[in-house]
Amino acid sequence: QAIYRKDYVAPGFWVDTVEMGLDLGLEQTHVATRMTLRRNPESTEKDIVLFGDGLKILQLRLNGANLKKSQYSIQGETMRIPDAPDDVVLEIETLIQPVKNTALSGLYASAGNLITQCEAEGFRRITWFPDRPDVMAKYTVLLRADKKAFPVLLSNGNLIEEGDLGDGRHYAKWEDPFFKPSYLFAIVAGKLVCQEETFRLQDGRDALLQVWVEPGNLDKTDHAMQSLKKSIRWDEERFGLELDLDRFMIVATGDFNMGAMENKGLNIFNTKYVLANPSIATDTDYAGIESVVGHEYFHNWTGNRVTCRDWFQLSLKEGLTVFRDQEFSADLVGTATGRAVKRIEDVRVLRQVQFSEDAGPMAHPVRPDSFVEINNFYTVTIYEKGSEVVRMYYTLLGHDGFRKGMDLYFARHDGQAVECDDFRAAMADAGGRDLTQFERWYSQAGTPRVHASAVYNAEEKTYVLTLAQSCPATPGQAEKLPFHIPVTVGLLGADGRDLPLHTDGAQAGQTSVVLELTEASQTFIFRDVAEEPVPSLLRNFSAPVVLHFDYSDAQLAHLLAHDSDPFNRWEAGQRLATRRLVKLTQAVQAGEALALDEMFLEALRNTLNDTTLDPAFRELVLTLPSELVIAEEFDEVDPQAIHTARQFARAAISDALRGDLLTAYEDNLTPGKYSPDAESSAKRSLKNLALSYLADWPQQSTFDLALTQFNEAENMTDRLAALHALVNFKGDAKQKKAADKALAQFYKLFSKEALVVDKWFMLQAVAETTDVAKVRELMQHPAFTLNNPNRARSLTFSFCNANPSQFHAPDGSGYALWAELVIALNKINPQVAARLARSMDRWKKYSPALQQKMKAALEKVAGTKKLSKDVAEVVTKALAAE
Ligand code: ARG
Ligand code: ZN
Repeated sequence: QAIYRKDYVAPGFWVDTVEMGLDLGLEQTHVATRMTLRRNPESTEKDIVLFGDGLKILQLRLNGANLKKSQYSIQGETMRIPDAPDDVVLEIETLIQPVKNTALSGLYASAGNLITQCEAEGFRRITWFPDRPDVMAKYTVLLRADKKAFPVLLSNGNLIEEGDLGDGRHYAKWEDPFFKPSYLFAIVAGKLVCQEETFRLQDGRDALLQVWVEPGNLDKTDHAMQSLKKSIRWDEERFGLELDLDRFMIVATGDFNMGAMENKGLNIFNTKYVLANPSIATDTDYAGIESVVGHEYFHNWTGNRVTCRDWFQLSLKEGLTVFRDQEFSADLVGTATGRAVKRIEDVRVLRQVQFSEDAGPMAHPVRPDSFVEINNFYTVTIYEKGSEVVRMYYTLLGHDGFRKGMDLYFARHDGQAVECDDFRAAMADAGGRDLTQFERWYSQAGTPRVHASAVYNAEEKTYVLTLAQSCPATPGQAEKLPFHIPVTVGLLGADGRDLPLHTDGAQAGQTSVVLELTEASQTFIFRDVAEEPVPSLLRNFSAPVVLHFDYSDAQLAHLLAHDSDPFNRWEAGQRLATRRLVKLTQAVQAGEALALDEMFLEALRNTLNDTTLDPAFRELVLTLPSELVIAEEFDEVDPQAIHTARQFARAAISDALRGDLLTAYEDNLTPGKYSPDAESSAKRSLKNLALSYLADWPQQSTFDLALTQFNEAENMTDRLAALHALVNFKGDAKQKKAADKALAQFYKLFSKEALVVDKWFMLQAVAETTDVAKVRELMQHPAFTLNNPNRARSLTFSFCNANPSQFHAPDGSGYALWAELVIALNKINPQVAARLARSMDRWKKYSPALQQKMKAALEKVAGTKKLSKDVAEVVTKALAAE
């Protein structure tokens, strides 16, 4: 039941206009659609093909005449109308039941309001339509509803009329002046209030900006509004792209499958990415809001004005828009280290989640060749690896070259639905470069390996660097061809400074050069190298690859202390740490004594105490690779041994750096009014890292420190960090009791703030001592429900994905819980269920005993009746893993 990219056929009919009238109700909504269609003479498809899902048809008229049952056919979600004339007016009336829509795709109810989510294929759950992104039409939408229940009526574009209908009902008419695919359609109706302001655009026009929330949340909209204004300004300045509407709206809903959605002029957001004030949101939340508000806004050009021909091209808009939101966040911080910190954080996610995806049964290229359920392909590969692919153009073409490529892309394709290849062609043509081979980044899955080796010739003063690439097999792709890989390189002298580079393509005085690796193996020669250098390879993570180089510990310490590229400074520290964590894990398995060497501790100490370094950067260096990242170093993963090893290392660091950690804590307090700016959030992150280390070497004084911070915190960042330290404290019975009390207080204080209750569940889900039994107990808590995606994720996803040593309990109880949850969620919300199903992707990496239990759990899910295609695809692919 998979569909293939190669089978693309242009639609048999284009749609020019769509007029919709909706009589809105929670129980029942009546949808009348009138669309004009025009034959596409270029298509081999001769029928009118419409899609519908769960719709009750009341009326179906073609050019004014009722269609008889014999004049059309319906098979699954597909309706075909054969023998239609070239110009058609189609009128369809359907009935839908929003309250029963627990899948949260199409039109659904959230807290008594009505909300839509149409990407990827939700519009067909509202009306029959050629619901595919290459069909772009102009929409007019008339909303009618009870005035009391639905005082606010919103849709895409401009409000052109509103008024009273008598009998307690009212209406609003919206017109979107732009052609758009159906996945960008949106309506919102209900009791909502907004923060609004007019904003002067660069071209002098005024736009009305609104952030809509449930009453009671108006004290939490300001950061989203500020972020929106920054986004508009940034896109004007960096890319010359202007807001094309008179009005731009953001709506927050507590029931949402994903982060947010870029519907034209009416972005709909998960509350998690809108609502913030210092008492409920952490620094991370503030940063998340800024970047997601930016992301959705930037889609207006990369996604909406230029959209995707088909869903295989999803990364065309998502990879590019993630790149844009990453650049936005980096530009807002401004400083070089600030940019590096953002880069490191992004790469950390890529490595932890995308590299793992690339190595598992769901591995797919950035532009997939097939899928069963498109919703399963909103992945880290499409988004984050897709962004890395865009970033490589940026690295290859340079800042101005990339901008030229973007300009050409819009000049050619504004208003069109295009392919990833069209973007590549614009970049190649604007840059005057042959990017033919670069296409393999779109067609080949898997994370390439680059093996670097070097020979220094003291007599000839040459440094010869050899780069060799390979890429592991992925499902359906046994052999891979070489990629076009930009490898940014610098050479460090013994004094820690960059040596000037004399090599092809480097200008005089240049200390970093982008080498282009295009063959399986290639050699690059650096001349006039006065001394044997330490190579700094893949600076700023110039390509999404795994780089091997046989560094000595001393070389890594040198890079950590001196590299002018902050990313590689951090990277060197991670390499030092990973080596040790692998050895410690092996020692745990062998029952040997554990120890951490002084050289490593000294390197961490020096970084921690180097107050010339940005605290955020120091925090990143001091943070050990996660258990998931360490797991990737092993062929057979032993989650408990990894956990023990990492905890040992943390305690040893805590012990050895006690005084330094205390100083870092004291030095990075942020008294006064809370602000989420980069500087103060950097301080809080280092301070709270110090606190968590201190708590890993349990002493009453650190317990008291955490408790005081918890009680006196004036912002959520500090309060949550303190609670985390208390809950994970390895203390005595009395301390345990005090920690439980804090946990209870926290809940009581914030029980009315859904997003904070989510944090409360999550914090417990990932706590060291939380086992399967504890999760089951928490599932009985009155505030827990699987019906709300955020709440379901807070407890169950966090446990299955972020508490590996407990989830992989040797008795298999974690897997049994997983299977129960996936089966339960499958009935409620297939998209959410399929996400959780992914937790078992890497089952082949565990011991035979665990594998057997994981396989049984997978088979249990696979054998469930009425399994959605979403879940079926994930578990079928997992079970097929070799
Ligand atoms: N386009 C949205 C975004 O990235 C995500 C929508 C995902 N929807 C889905 N059904 N998977 O901003
Ligand atoms: Zn997106």
